[in-house]
Amino acid sequence: MSYMKRIYIKTWGCQMNEYDSSKIADILIKNHNYILTDDVKKADVLILNTCSIREKAQEKVFHQLGRWRTLKENNPDLIIGVGGCVASQEGHQILQRAKYVDIIFGPQTFHRLPHMIDQVYQNKNSVIDISFPKVEKFDFVPEPHSISPTSYVSIMEGCNKYCTYCVVPYTRGEEVSRPCDDILYEIAQLAEQGVREVNLLGQNVNAYRGLTFDGKICKFAELLRLVAAIDGIDRIRFTTSHPIEFTDDIIDVYTDTPELVSFLHLPVQSGSNRILKLMNRPYTILDYKKIVDKLKLARPDIQISSDFIIGFPSESQDDFDLTVQLITDVNFDMSFSFIYSPRPGTPAAYLYDNTSQEEKKQRLYTVQEHINKQSMEWSKSMIGSIQKVLVEGISKKNIMNLRGRTENNRVVDFEGLPYMIGQFIDIKIINAHFNSLQGMIEKI
Ligand code: SAH
Ligand code: SF4
Ligand code: F3S
Repeated sequence: MSYMKRIYIKTWGCQMNEYDSSKIADILIKNHNYILTDDVKKADVLILNTCSIREKAQEKVFHQLGRWRTLKENNPDLIIGVGGCVASQEGHQILQRAKYVDIIFGPQTFHRLPHMIDQVYQNKNSVIDISFPKVEKFDFVPEPHSISPTSYVSIMEGCNKYCTYCVVPYTRGEEVSRPCDDILYEIAQLAEQGVREVNLLGQNVNAYRGLTFDGKICKFAELLRLVAAIDGIDRIRFTTSHPIEFTDDIIDVYTDTPELVSFLHLPVQSGSNRILKLMNRPYTILDYKKIVDKLKLARPDIQISSDFIIGFPSESQDDFDLTVQLITDVNFDMSFSFIYSPRPGTPAAYLYDNTSQEEKKQRLYTVQEHINKQSMEWSKSMIGSIQKVLVEGISKKNIMNLRGRTENNRVVDFEGLPYMIGQFIDIKIINAHFNSLQGMIEKI
């Protein structure tokens, strides 16, 4: 019997990177006889799937590689591969800084990894492939499987929006939609395995334009309805959408498709029209608020979360105050905020920036306090209500409890029985903590 190679994968970054890592594991395990290990010292192949959205994410990569270098010194046969967005952006430069790296692959070439590993074993030379073949990778991914009642499904790759601060269009390539029927087939297979909730993934899912089997174009709104019609799929989420293509046909889906959750993550980035323009985000705050108003007409209970970049070059106190105002006006729920990080090669990196880092930190703190307070208010308002909770597994806080998720994406801990995992259960909310809710079973 041949020796089965052990692979260790470490991932940073967004859900898309997490998704890619799970597919890398699937390809290596199911198609190439590898086994996954969570012990880095026992691995034959180490894979780092990286993110370059902010400077810190990038620096982390080289720190991690530095730690792995020692392992390689003790075991020269160890193969180290770097994938993801840092690999895509830096390519050869990674080898200059970390000569002991054997493989550099990109977000669109991870399916070639088994072949690249074989090449390194044979030739003992480093291999690089960071090209952008059009969603070819999905043809190499084995049939989906899920042990959880919730699953991510990629529907499109890449981004064409070129926000002036962002690396993604350069690291992930152009927007390419997966064929509609491939997505529906994948979701139907997942539903047969007990998946009840899907999260449709892409940088701008609302730019989805997939081909149908008869050569027509299926837009995002239509895809949502088709997914909702799949037996067993009772909850649909998506990550991430862009205000510019949040068209009325998508808002209409909220009126007639109850499977679509009343919770939307719609990144706005700033409350100042001047800054939005500099960011190349081609909408105004009025446009954004109009979308929110229409959504609230369709779904009065909808909650909106967002992403904010704080301290974009030339952001004045007035611009910042507009962001704070917008957070109040929309009453955003749990949202992400980051200090602007100049990314090499992006247009914003060349803009004059006269705000001190200290001031930016202070603004970030103000925004985060504000959002946390609002988010806690939303949570508290749920106390006493009955929530439809999808039970995902055992509670992280107490192994005697179960853990599930509400429609508005909050974790709920409650006392229950293992057979409930994978089901929707009505839970009465009895307490609200900072990161989770506590509940009790209302009815089974
Ligand atoms: N495609 C999504 C977001 C992808 S990146 C969208 O357009 O909304 C996730 C978030 O990282 C962004 O929404 C933005 O808030 C943040 N981000 C991206 N580039 C950044 C940078 N250079 N500095 C700080 N934050 C950044
Ligand atoms: Fe980056 Fe903008 Fe594309 Fe989002 S839409 S991935 S922020 S370029
Ligand atoms: Fe990071 Fe790339 Fe995702 S830069 S956020 S891993 S698309």
